[in-house]
Amino acid sequence: MRPSPAPPAADPAEERWTPLWQWLLSTRLGPSEALEPAPPQPPDAAAQALLQLYMPLVRARRERRRHGVAHNRPVLAASGPSAPVTAAASAAPRPWVVAQLGQSLDGCVATAAGDSFFVTGEQSLLHLHRLRALCDAVLVGAGTVAADDPQLTTRRVPGPNPLRLVLDPTARLDGQARVLREPAAPTLWICDASHAARARACRPHGGAEVLAVDGLLTGDGPAAGIDIGRLLDTLGECGVALLFVEGGGVTVSRFLAAGAIDRLHLVVAPVLIGDGRRGIQGPGPARMAECPRPPVQRLLMGEDVLFDLDLSRSGSG
Ligand SMILES: NC(=O)c1ccc[n+]([C@@H]2O[C@H](COP(=O)([O-])OP(=O)(O)OC[C@H]3O[C@@H](n4cnc5c(N)ncnc54)[C@H](OP(=O)(O)O)[C@@H]3O)[C@@H](O)[C@H]2O)c1
Repeated sequence: MRPSPAPPAADPAEERWTPLWQWLLSTRLGPSEALEPAPPQPPDAAAQALLQLYMPLVRARRERRRHGVAHNRPVLAASGPSAPVTAAASAAPRPWVVAQLGQSLDGCVATAAGDSFFVTGEQSLLHLHRLRALCDAVLVGAGTVAADDPQLTTRRVPGPNPLRLVLDPTARLDGQARVLREPAAPTLWICDASHAARARACRPHGGAEVLAVDGLLTGDGPAAGIDIGRLLDTLGECGVALLFVEGGGVTVSRFLAAGAIDRLHLVVAPVLIGDGRRGIQGPGPARMAECPRPPVQRLLMGEDVLFDLDLSRSGSG
């Protein structure tokens, strides 16, 4: 058997990467009607590898906006600081979805106690912030907000902060998390309409808006599921063309089970956690032959390996 070539290292020197990164940002933000400009010649293999990693996102965003997302109002532009937030009524394409998890060799994204600072290394953290900067919105589950109190900003790279989305269907959070309180970027606290009143009651003044989604929960009680399609329709109507699902494992797995992820970036760090919080979880096929093996590109991110899985072409996206 021929050995597979070693994955390229995605660690271009800062001065070589900066012009390409600026080009990616301007292409992503540029007018969607304009032809996609040709990328500048990458200065080395590492820059080429990163360009290949991010170009599908930039293309997907331009494509979505060409097909209608741009014609819908951005949800926060039209709402005052305390106005109730509702999506526009027009049909809009669902966002293109990239999800990312930083996991251990044994498939965990945090210890059993919920500590995830940090599973992956410095370069992978830069990658995480680049994803935030390239996407319109970043979404995390309520469990991540409760455990990590994240800011979900782009502190580590140049680029705009995305719209921040906290998925909390039954409004279990108490409104005290930084992402809900601090106005670093527009933020939506997403709840099922039946639980939105509680979120509104403890919404911090000047902080997150509550986005009430009718039919987000698919049932009552602890066994209730989440209608991911409904959520994506709502976000499309809100003007989100490119969505980054940042975790945790339960949330990414819900999107995966709904077939809603176009690209999954699994970053595997050389660390063992043991009985920690799982990354991808949920029932799978009984037979190994039926387990999905999506098309994949590998990249070295320092000590970590990033698996860029194309789920849109595998039948599992
Ligand atoms: N390494 C990484 O890439 C990465 C990324 C993000 C997060 N994390 C880690 O992942 C863990 C969180 O992920 P997760 O899969 O457990 O959850 P999650 O996907 O962030 O959120 C959904 C889960 O959180 C539960 N939840 C809702 N409100 C909660 C609250 N107030 N307190 C605690 N849990 C609540 C939900 O339960 P219900 O459905 O019953 O409401 C649901 O099971 C944290 O330890 C975080 O540090 C790691």
